[in-house]
Amino acid sequence: MILVTGASGQLGHALAKRLAARGATFTAVQRPDFDFEKAETVASCFENAKPSLVINAAAYTAVDKAETDQEAAKAGNHTGPLALAKLCEAADIPFIHVSTDYVFDGDKGAPYLESDPTSPTGVYGATKRDGEEAILATNAKAIILRTAWVYSAHGKNFARTMINAGRKMPILRVVADQRGTPTAAGDLADAILAIADKISATGWRPEYRGIFHATGGGETTWHGFATAIFEDAAKQGYQPPEVQPIATADWPTPTRRPPDSRLDGGKLTKVFGVTMPAWRQSLHDVVKDLLKPENTA
Ligand SMILES: NC(=O)c1ccc[n+]([C@@H]2O[C@H](COP(=O)([O-])OP(=O)(O)OC[C@H]3O[C@@H](n4cnc5c(N)ncnc54)[C@H](OP(=O)(O)O)[C@@H]3O)[C@@H](O)[C@H]2O)c1
Repeated sequence: MILVTGASGQLGHALAKRLAARGATFTAVQRPDFDFEKAETVASCFENAKPSLVINAAAYTAVDKAETDQEAAKAGNHTGPLALAKLCEAADIPFIHVSTDYVFDGDKGAPYLESDPTSPTGVYGATKRDGEEAILATNAKAIILRTAWVYSAHGKNFARTMINAGRKMPILRVVADQRGTPTAAGDLADAILAIADKISATGWRPEYRGIFHATGGGETTWHGFATAIFEDAAKQGYQPPEVQPIATADWPTPTRRPPDSRLDGGKLTKVFGVTMPAWRQSLHDVVKDLLKPENTA
């Protein structure tokens, strides 16, 4: 039995869809039944599922709001996941947790390795980093996947925002001096399930424990991402807006974003044999889905 948390989110939704398609035995839980701010719901979902593996896709993900909503961010990213990790540790089962490129300040100037020191620039990144450290200090069978710029046809994300904004405005201004890698939620779900398959096939191995970087292959900027979204949308008959490049300084946000948060995925390939698809390849299908009337929000 696999327990998936955060089923209403982008990653949780993609995981549940794939597990259902495989005919897997799983339970996918979400708020209000599973809420990191209500410890008893975490314990009862775990007890009801009696899982052999937990995949935590639940998190507090509102980066800017976290600056003024620190207790909720801490519960969603640190103390809540830690409570879940403790339950996994007591049951001696693997715990797959998801973290973020925002644990880094983005000043390295090259793709980050898992061994690089963290230096978050805001509350969201700091709570995710604290969660990583607490889980690794607690759980002998913890796998933490750091991802970035997650998008899908389900839920709130940059791709949906661009498609919606482009319907209303002829010109969009998008930041062109932040580098990173978009990650399709479906690709991340596939990587997680490949890891789960590997654990089932080999049994737990010591090298599985720890942090792994898991983003789409390649790199771009938010401006490059937006341009590609509209290129693919135009192929579906969407009328694209003009996308103008701007500097981060022209788009101030409460939390400073890392200027270059590229993550090196080599360890994921070496240990699990998993290489994430190039971000540009995955985009096309998601944009196609986003343009379907049922996904227009
Ligand atoms: N989105 C990105 O660009 C991005 C980038 C880097 C890393 N990540 C990480 O990737 C993972 C998956 O992100 P995502 O994009 O799928 O996020 P998402 O779409 O925002 O979904 C987050 C999920 O967590 C749930 N949640 C929020 N607070 C909770 C709480 N206190 N207790 C229980 N559930 C709670 C949400 O429930 P509701 O629907 O009820 O709010 C939702 O199901 C997260 O660990 C995130 O930090 C995401």
